[in-house]
Amino acid sequence: MNNGAGRLITFEGGDGSGKSTQLRMTAAWLQERGHEVIVTHEPGDTPVGSEIRRLLLEGEYTPVPECELFLFLADRAQHVSEVIMPALDRGVWVLCDRFSDSTMAYQLAGRKLADPDGLAAMLKFAESGIAPDLTLWFDLPVSEALHRIRSRSSMGEESTRLDEEAQSFHELVHAAFAELHRADAERIARIDASEAIEQVQEQVQAAFDVRGMV
Ligand code: TYD
Repeated sequence: MNNGAGRLITFEGGDGSGKSTQLRMTAAWLQERGHEVIVTHEPGDTPVGSEIRRLLLEGEYTPVPECELFLFLADRAQHVSEVIMPALDRGVWVLCDRFSDSTMAYQLAGRKLADPDGLAAMLKFAESGIAPDLTLWFDLPVSEALHRIRSRSSMGEESTRLDEEAQSFHELVHAAFAELHRADAERIARIDASEAIEQVQEQVQAAFDVRGMV
């Protein structure tokens, strides 16, 4: 739990898992219950971060895995100190679309970077030691997620450099999220993202409920 009265809730999962829609629905639900809420996302939700996001995701450049990791961490450090910590200190609930677990899943597992202990220390440094109070992991089989990404791009929505990665990369990311959940099921709630939107939202609300958070 963080020092201020606020709460940090992170939304995680593979590309195409529907977590961003669920984030908006959850924000509305928490506001109805009287909480002050902000929604934010990574990478790119600060002025510095939007430049970093462009470097990372537009596809003009292909950073080496180590460089990719440091760019995500640079975005994280700016986001934590400019947006997340001040909001938590004001008692606000921060709903964040992706955070630390994405770095563990995409960079450490997906890019097969070695040295998990070193990464844990770097994450702590970049995040000023804050940690999510609750993480919702939207679990969707990779084949279904890729199907959703392809149909979105056929409808004109732009895909990112990471959306375009091979299926084997997305499988590594998915397995990593499953392992993170297995290792800490109290913080990370698994949400079955293959259900209809309303049922997925019911699972999200239940995850807050069973932890006594609402
Ligand atoms: P984005 O377009 O914001 O959409 P979504 O979150 O809905 O997938 O994509 C962000 C991408 O950045 C996504 O492919 C995951 C990736 N990512 C990392 O690889 N590492 C990280 O630490 C973060 C925060 C994101």
